[in-house]
Amino acid sequence: MQCVTGFAPIVGERVLLRPLLRAEARLVIAYRRDPQVARFQGWGVVDPGEIERDLAAMEPRTPCDVPGPWFQLAIVERERDLLVGDLGVRVLSEAQDNAEIGYTVAPAYQGRGYATEAVSAICAWLLGPRGLARVIAIMDGRNTPSISVAESAGFTRAAAIESKHGGAPTTLLTYERRA
Ligand SMILES: CC(C)(COP(=O)(O)OP(=O)(O)OC[C@H]1O[C@@H](n2cnc3c(N)ncnc32)[C@H](O)[C@@H]1OP(=O)(O)O)[C@@H](O)C(=O)NCCC(=O)NCCS
Repeated sequence: MQCVTGFAPIVGERVLLRPLLRAEARLVIAYRRDPQVARFQGWGVVDPGEIERDLAAMEPRTPCDVPGPWFQLAIVERERDLLVGDLGVRVLSEAQDNAEIGYTVAPAYQGRGYATEAVSAICAWLLGPRGLARVIAIMDGRNTPSISVAESAGFTRAAAIESKHGGAPTTLLTYERRA
């Protein structure tokens, strides 16, 4: 499947990455509302209208075409052509050879290595054909599964800053992978 602008999917062994479709907003909302999924995220209330508007605005774009805005990719299990999660990617405005990623897998499909495979695949594309120098992922220091995914995908810890989440003190970790 290609998006309207002709972006070819990034294909891994078991999952592929392609633009998330507006028609998939309800599926994404369903798993993002799960308290386990939302725990370390800054989403607050997940607004269906807002997600649909974001996905509609993304339709004419390709991932990382302009610095700044996020682009949401679907993580699709190839065997069943099933949406299992999403992966956001953006080029940083302040360092345009750097990208940031964020990833989510629906609870029913976690623990199978899908996030690790998706993160490895996007890094191969960003640091290979897309020609970027560095990919970062920022996460709560208590988010063990996310840290494990980053480390399994070849990221190393680059920074740790004290922060607050829901009013409670926490540490925000920046992980990086360089070309
Ligand atoms: C982080 C997340 C994407 C991982 O997805 P996943 O598909 O289960 O990840 P994988 O199966 O590729 O790998 C998970 C790793 O975490 C470990 N793990 C999975 N669930 C865990 C848990 N509840 N506690 C501790 N470790 C856990 C797995 O053993 C695996 O470790 P390993 O690589 O050493 O074997 C998923 O938990 C999620 O969507 N969380 C909510 C959203 C979020 O916090 N995203 C990160 C923001 S940057």
